[in-house]
Amino acid sequence: MNTTTQAQPESRAAAEAAQDHVQGDRLQAAIAELARFGGRDDGGVSRQTLTDIDLQARRYLIDRAGALGCVVEVDDCANLFFRRPGKTDLPPVLTGSHADTQPVGGKLDGAYGVLAGLEVLAALNDAGIETLRPIEVVAWTNEEGSRFGPGAMGSSAFVDPGRLPDYRKVTDGDGVTFGAALDRALQAIPEVPRRALRRPMSSCVELHIEQGPVLEAARVPLGIVAGIQSVRWYRVTLTGMAAHAGTTPMDVRADAMAAAVDVAHRLYAHAAQAAASQLRLTLGRWLVGPNSVNTIPGEVEFTIDVRCVDERVLERFDAALGEIVKSHAWPGRVELECFFSRPPTRFPAEMLALVGQACERACRQASQPPPVALTSGAFHDAMYLAEHCPTAMIFVPSKGGVSHNAAEETAPHELLLGAQALAYAVTALANA
Ligand code: GLV
Ligand code: MN
Ligand code: MN
Repeated sequence: MNTTTQAQPESRAAAEAAQDHVQGDRLQAAIAELARFGGRDDGGVSRQTLTDIDLQARRYLIDRAGALGCVVEVDDCANLFFRRPGKTDLPPVLTGSHADTQPVGGKLDGAYGVLAGLEVLAALNDAGIETLRPIEVVAWTNEEGSRFGPGAMGSSAFVDPGRLPDYRKVTDGDGVTFGAALDRALQAIPEVPRRALRRPMSSCVELHIEQGPVLEAARVPLGIVAGIQSVRWYRVTLTGMAAHAGTTPMDVRADAMAAAVDVAHRLYAHAAQAAASQLRLTLGRWLVGPNSVNTIPGEVEFTIDVRCVDERVLERFDAALGEIVKSHAWPGRVELECFFSRPPTRFPAEMLALVGQACERACRQASQPPPVALTSGAFHDAMYLAEHCPTAMIFVPSKGGVSHNAAEETAPHELLLGAQALAYAVTALANA
């Protein structure tokens, strides 16, 4: 990437024209169309990665990109790339996000970034702009991590293909491996040419909803994302002995649920002590065996999601967790596994400056307050891309700060502003 922090006059004119050709109605229509794949009566979307419904959504994206004149390719992790050629074959500028959702998610988390990327390509077509570099829109596989853990598998395997063999062995709740689900997804699109992982990219910009309350509280429509907080995921498995609920005296039980609840209480107590450091703790998934009203649980597995801007807080949590698990006195077994760990991400200053310029113009043109900088509470594919090429993110507000929920919402004019800022940034980068 050109290290200048400002788009140069010629590339600025193209960036402004691209920004001015973004169409809010077309973007809204695309969001509504994609939301039909897995759409729920409550307005939410259930489209977990590599399910039948996700494969149908991928087909929709392929067709939409084809209609825009894109070259479509897929890699071994089923990441889909939609390429708008440039004047040269220099490494492309990458944008996009993911199209999978949480078990119950909204219509914007991930989908917005992919569809806004395609809207940028449509705007460039309408404006008759040919960029120096190609522009690629990507739909990453399994960002959410809810069906197969960890999250951001597609982007992390893209950046480091050595991760893929282990990912392929991960199973979902029904025992299906990620590898089998991937092969099925690839077989469903035999006409799409395969490409290598880890392709060079000149830069990357991901547009996403904030999923938190900061922009709404500041009454600002666009955020320049300075970085992403650190995150760790753990799995705790407690194995005791299943037995009759009515006949087994309390003092001879090896009740895995009683032990799990005790561990959970101690973790929440640790989080309460660390509240000043903004530690965020979630025990989100519980599996109970045999899960019967009148049998003492013989096995309990639960997950821990813990996050903080300051990674030292997570190191202290890790030590406390180890101690809680080790010192826990009960007749059964406890296993602890950390299966996802990322330090904080910081995006480079020159990318923040360019994205800032893009957001400022979009806000100015719409007579809106200027953008603010913030740190992302959620993780994103851009977290891994930052290891691969200069990367940045743009946020739009989330109504009520709500996400990973059917009620996820952003005002149409804010979605438009985000896509306009993306158009400016991507076009400027594609001419650098
Ligand atoms: C992404 O979905 C996250 O959990 O931050
Ligand atoms: Mn997301
Ligand atoms: Mn998400």
